[in-house]
Amino acid sequence: MTTQPEPDLSAELCGVRLRTPVLLASGTCGYGTELSPFLDLRQLGGIVAKSLTLEPRVGNLPPRITETPAGMLNAISLENVGVDVFLREKLPALPTELPVFASTFETEIERYAEVCKRLDGAPGLAAIEINASCPHVKAGGIEFGQDPHALASLTRACRQATRLPLLIKLSPNVTSIAEMARICEGEGADGLSLINAVQGMVVDVEQRRPALRNVLGGLSGPAIRPIALRMVHEAARAVKIPLCGMGGIASGPDAVAFLLCGASAVQVGTQTYTNPRAALEVVEGIADYCRRHSLSSARELVGALEAWD
Ligand SMILES: Cc1cc2nc3c(=O)[nH]c(=O)nc-3n(C[C@H](O)[C@H](O)[C@H](O)COP(=O)(O)O)c2cc1C
Repeated sequence: MTTQPEPDLSAELCGVRLRTPVLLASGTCGYGTELSPFLDLRQLGGIVAKSLTLEPRVGNLPPRITETPAGMLNAISLENVGVDVFLREKLPALPTELPVFASTFETEIERYAEVCKRLDGAPGLAAIEINASCPHVKAGGIEFGQDPHALASLTRACRQATRLPLLIKLSPNVTSIAEMARICEGEGADGLSLINAVQGMVVDVEQRRPALRNVLGGLSGPAIRPIALRMVHEAARAVKIPLCGMGGIASGPDAVAFLLCGASAVQVGTQTYTNPRAALEVVEGIADYCRRHSLSSARELVGALEAWD
């Protein structure tokens, strides 16, 4: 009996070499070390750390998380330690072999760019992901990722502020994801991450109140997977830069669906709350799929979706 060689799971995202195509999603893995007791982070493709602001930031008051069918709604409001503490304390605590993607989030373009500047050249940092799902204060509070002009200016300013590979994380709360993807590509983004959480609301009818103090929240988990897949599929047809797909990935086949739709890598978010080893199980599930389909490399799956006759 001949034994089949193990499939090659390595991937590349914006010039960053990844051991596997699976990363942990921003905001769902802290700064990485929180999950170290549960899994060897080096077995993953990398992590995207919690979004950083210039100064430390305290989030919304509770209740700020609630369960929904097949998902969760959160309005944490991006509580974080700030970029300087991240660079001084959090980044050096991570294994040097692990590709670490920093994420930034701010209320003004100049402040986003300043965070990028401070991150630029940090030892051990692989890339920056720009979280564009933040209200643009000067534009009356609409998300950067919802306004084509604001998204263009944001991408341009961050591009000028860093030589690190730059991914823009798109908001799903838009009419045309393809248009937003093209804008980022045109302004020099190296790649796109999609999708962020989908705006939603839950009502506690006994109390006759919104379940979250913030009223609205971001819906994540398996409930949003079909939306995320549709958006990755549309973005892949609109741009040539690589995509990192996420939204409700809970298993190997879920991740394979994103790769087939054109994502070069994926991120696991909400599922980590159910099972802190979820991302590793997704890696194992991709390997299992490759074995069952006699693929020597998971890269063969990227964009390999077949059309109906
Ligand atoms: C509690 C929580 C906090 C999050 N915080 C961030 C964040 O800081 N920055 C960011 O870009 N996305 C954040 N996200 C969005 C996730 O990274 C991801 O885009 C989204 O949840 C969809 O993936 P999932 O369904 O696998 O969770 C957060 C999601 C959750 C559930």
